[in-house]
Amino acid sequence: GKYRVVSTKSMPGTRWIRLLTDQDCRVEICTEKKTILSVEDILALIGEKCDGLTEDWSEVLFSALKRAGGTAFSNMAVGYNNVDVDAATKYGVAVGNTPPNPFLESANFRLLQVGVLTETTAELAASLSLAAARRIVEADQFMRAGLYDGWLPHLYDLNHTLVFYECQMVSLVQHRLIFFEWNDYPELVLPIAYGQFLQANGEQPVTWKRAATMEDVLREADVISLHPILDKTTYHLINKERLSIMKKDAILVNCSRGPVVDEAALVEHLKVNPMFRVGLDVFEDEPYLKPGLAELKNAIVVPHIASASKWTREGMATLAALNVLGKIKGYPVWADPNLVEPFLDENSPPPA
Ligand code: GLV
Ligand code: GLV
Repeated sequence: GKYRVVSTKSMPGTRWIRLLTDQDCRVEICTEKKTILSVEDILALIGEKCDGLTEDWSEVLFSALKRAGGTAFSNMAVGYNNVDVDAATKYGVAVGNTPPNPFLESANFRLLQVGVLTETTAELAASLSLAAARRIVEADQFMRAGLYDGWLPHLYDLNHTLVFYECQMVSLVQHRLIFFEWNDYPELVLPIAYGQFLQANGEQPVTWKRAATMEDVLREADVISLHPILDKTTYHLINKERLSIMKKDAILVNCSRGPVVDEAALVEHLKVNPMFRVGLDVFEDEPYLKPGLAELKNAIVVPHIASASKWTREGMATLAALNVLGKIKGYPVWADPNLVEPFLDENSPPPA
């Protein structure tokens, strides 16, 4: 192959490999057994000549990639807080991610619902909401501990009425905050959008209600599911003060990035509010939990699995490969690569 493309992790499926090898790329997959590679490991992988890669990226790595002649980098994730995009730009390296929907810019509102990881993430957010509300994990542990000695009217009951959960609604997550209100009335789950989302997209579904301020949302909501990108504006978005205005028996779900929530403040809040529950897929010091969190019954913790379906993960790998290919082969691009969007339209012809 004319181009050398290195993947720092073994990505699922074979389509991404075929896409690259069909286009004159030699694909190398890191065989290192560690989950997290060190800077030295990645520098060794880049070697003398390298065209594309995926992993956690800082300035030193982009400068090494540049020295090796590299021009493209793709994150196999929608979030790119692990990537120093400014450094990449400085070294002329294009950055791609695997956003919920590559057609976002040209799409109307409804098209947003067909993304590579959107539904899968929505599904986990819904699962965590329901599991937290129905105390599934606690109840499971209770059974396994042999504590169930017969049916009782109040055993693991809850204040919330379980309602039909409109998963599709959860899917409107790209780079925005979406909040859900879980009414006590079983016929409806009203998602509340807070932030720029509705303005940016014009068309509004009738069930959406625009909240005046984030504080209003927090005060009203029974369930809040967080889906922003992590940046300076969303760091500790949910902090001690905001937790304190939420309902005492509210449910908070985070499938975005750990630092969006002040996790130490959350641990304190959970300790003094036993009816408050959380479902967390991401953590501030991932893969570690803040002290005290693991001991709390009102917290459900899972290991960053929101996008974990075979279809989604293979789709993400494919998008990551397309990002790198798009740059090195000069295909038409969707957007400025450094805007961190996938930039290859798979259906458009290669340049003449
Ligand atoms: C997963 O966390 C992602 O950003 O895709
Ligand atoms: C509970 O098992 C019921 O029958 O209501």
